[in-house]
Parts: sequence; structure tokens; C-alpha cells
Amino acid sequence: MSSTRFLTGITTSGTPHLGNYVGSIRPSVRASLRADVESFYFLADYHALIKIDEPARIQRSTLEIAASWLAAGLDPERVVFYRQSDVPEIPELTWLLTCVIGKGVLNRAHAYKAAVDKNTAAGIDPESDVSAGLFMYPVLMGADILMFNAHKVPVGRDQVQHIEMARDMAHSFNHRYGDHFVPPEAEIEDNVATLPGLDGRKMSKSYDNTIPLFAPRAQLKKLIASIVTDSRAPGEPKDTEGSALFQIYQAFATPEESSTLRQAYADGIAWSDAKQIVFERIDDEIAPLREVYQALLDDPARIESILRAGAAKARHIATPFMGRLRQAVGLRDLRTQSSKAVKSVKSALPVFKQYRENDGQFYFKLLDTDGRLLLQSTGFASPKVAGQTIATLQTQGASTLNELKEQLQWGPDVQTQDIAAALQALLDAKTK
Ligand code: TRP
Repeated sequence: MSSTRFLTGITTSGTPHLGNYVGSIRPSVRASLRADVESFYFLADYHALIKIDEPARIQRSTLEIAASWLAAGLDPERVVFYRQSDVPEIPELTWLLTCVIGKGVLNRAHAYKAAVDKNTAAGIDPESDVSAGLFMYPVLMGADILMFNAHKVPVGRDQVQHIEMARDMAHSFNHRYGDHFVPPEAEIEDNVATLPGLDGRKMSKSYDNTIPLFAPRAQLKKLIASIVTDSRAPGEPKDTEGSALFQIYQAFATPEESSTLRQAYADGIAWSDAKQIVFERIDDEIAPLREVYQALLDDPARIESILRAGAAKARHIATPFMGRLRQAVGLRDLRTQSSKAVKSVKSALPVFKQYRENDGQFYFKLLDTDGRLLLQSTGFASPKVAGQTIATLQTQGASTLNELKEQLQWGPDVQTQDIAAALQALLDAKTK
């Protein structure tokens, strides 16, 4: 394939803030302008239902987020820009994936585990207030990604586990039903700053420390004036290190502008003056977009029709693909039954081999179906421990590779994903 498919979604649960702009909207819009990239951007409104039960807020947020992306320069002609709930194939695929992912894998999802841990710490029922939607969140997200066979998913670090789960689902499905899905990769945006919020912690809705992206000029100024600083007086040199104000400035300024402000800090600029500089710089970039944003919000019909056109483009891909997937799993037109349709496609499996070396220690290795060495263990003093390690790999799959890495060596030219696929194949064979 000549171009790389990028896909990312934003949950429609609130009003976009500067952190969303710097961390997601701005880099996505820039990436969408690259000629070698095919971009899919969508409003994850089904995901929003997991957290939010205020219908008006979901609707408002969908409008605001769509308007923000468009105001930031996303060209709906160039990319596929759509609303998740306009593509019914996505929840349909969610079910197919639900049937190939282990429940145990979902038990380990960070967001679900965090909710359970919090309840446990509070001494209440661990599952209290945990919806099945929260539990299934990674599967819906997997369907978002696999539906369009995206190669790269730009996300923050907190979402990496979800991409790994999507890879797992792709492997499991492919293993059972043939090669349908491209296992996606997370594109971690480390070079994109995580913006601090008003109180210096990461800017986030959950900390209530955000600066709305399109706050009116006066409000923007007021909010920037309220960013925490230390108590150093005008004339006293100030530290850029750990200064939320400086970090926010850097996300908007050129390197030269940043070094000028760094110098001003060293020369003892008053906090109020520094804040004025930061405010002006941000407003320079945002003000023109703010006007477009306002005009879009005043014309919801226009956004609605842009999203519907985007959904038509998305479904142009999703509908025939879903048809092939239905066919693959056996949801078929009864008239097409053929005698070979019932043939089992079960193939050989990867194997663990356990053995003893001349040094008296116990070893094992994992071989691929064609005999290729995937994993080689270090020596174990007892066959029991070697056996237990194999059992852990067999039951837990690739998620334990990291924990066990002291005991394991990858075979020559072997990628972690090859090992993951082999372990998944063994897991699948067991649960069948
Ligand atoms: N989970 C993502 C977030 O909270 C939003 C999202 C939903 C997403 N589906 C996705 C991101 C698919 C990337 C790809 O930020």
C-alpha cells in the first residue's frame, strides 16, 4: 500500500481545551496535509456514552469538537471526517471482536482496573458503578481502528494499551478467519508537549484546570492570568524549569521567541508582564480560528452535512468490508452454501519445547509452525519453574513478555509481534 492510514478519535464528552489543541487537533491537522498520509478522524460519540448521561452535553460537545477541528484547518475533502455513530458497521464489528478477545485481557485494561481499585480502596463492591460499557471500551475502540485497517493511531501514552489490545484482536481474528485485519501501531506523540493546566498539573477535564480552546479573548486573558506561578517579585530572576506558564508558551512560540522569554525570566520579568506576553502569543494563533469556530457554531446544519458526507465516505469502505467479515465468520446467505464450506481450517500450532542442557539446567524454546525459533529461555534450576514459566506464557499471552524478559531471549530477527501472534494462536486453540 502506498499511503499510510492514520486514524484517531476524540470522545465527545466536553469542550475542547488548549491541551487538546496542542496534543491532538493541531498535530492531526498538520499530518492530514501530508501527501503520503490518508487520514481518518472521527467523533467518538459512542465512547462518550460510557462516561456521560446528559444527552444535551453529548450533542453540544459533538458540535463543538467538530467545529474545532474544522476551524483548526481540517479539510473534510482531504480526509475522512465522520461521527462514529453514523457508521453502524462499527458496533457490528464490536460484536465480532467481542467474540475473539479474552475476557481476561479486558480485566487488565487500565481504565477498568483503576475503577475497580478505587472501589476496593473505598471498601465498597469492586464493580460498583462500573458499567459493562467501561469494561468493553477497548473493544469498541478496537473496532474503530480495525474497521478501516488503520496502520498508525496517534495517541497519548495512556492509550497505548488500547492499541495493543486492538493488535491482539486483529491477530486473534486473523488466526481464526484468515487475514482480514492489519495490526495497528500506536504513534506516540512524545514530541508533542502535554500541556500543563492552570494549576500546573496536566491540563485535563478531570482536574478542572483547563483553558477552553475558543474562550473569548477577555476570558482567555483572565485564565492565563490565573496560571500558578511562584511568589517571586518583579526584578527577581525566575525559573523556566517547572513553570507551567513557560511550558504553555513554548507550545505556541518559535524557539527564538521561547529563548527571548527565557532570558526575560532570568532578567526578572514581572509575572504579570510574562502572562501578558503569553496571552498575546496564544491569542495571535487562536483569534483567526476563533472567528471561524464561531461562524461554524452558528451554522450547525453545515456541520451536520459535513459529517454526513464524511460518514458516506467511511461507509463506502466499511459496508463492503463488513460484508466480507460477515462472510468470513459464517453469517452468510444460505443460498451460497457449498460443500467445502464446512471444511475445518485448523492449522498446525506453534510449540513450546522443554529440554535439559549439558550444564544441568532446564530450558525451553518456542517454535513457530514452520520451526523458526521465536523465543529461547535462559536456564532454570528446576524443570518445574521452566514449566510454570511456559504455563504463564500460555495462559497470559504476550502481556507477560515484559515481566518475563529476564528469562527470555527473542529468536534472530524475531519481532515481539511474531511472538505475540504465536502465543495468541496457542491461547485461541485452547479456548476453542
Ligand atoms: N479513547 C480515545 C481517547 O479517550 C478516543 C478514541 C476512541 C480513539 N476510539 C479511538 C482514539 C480510536 C484513537 C483511535 O482519547
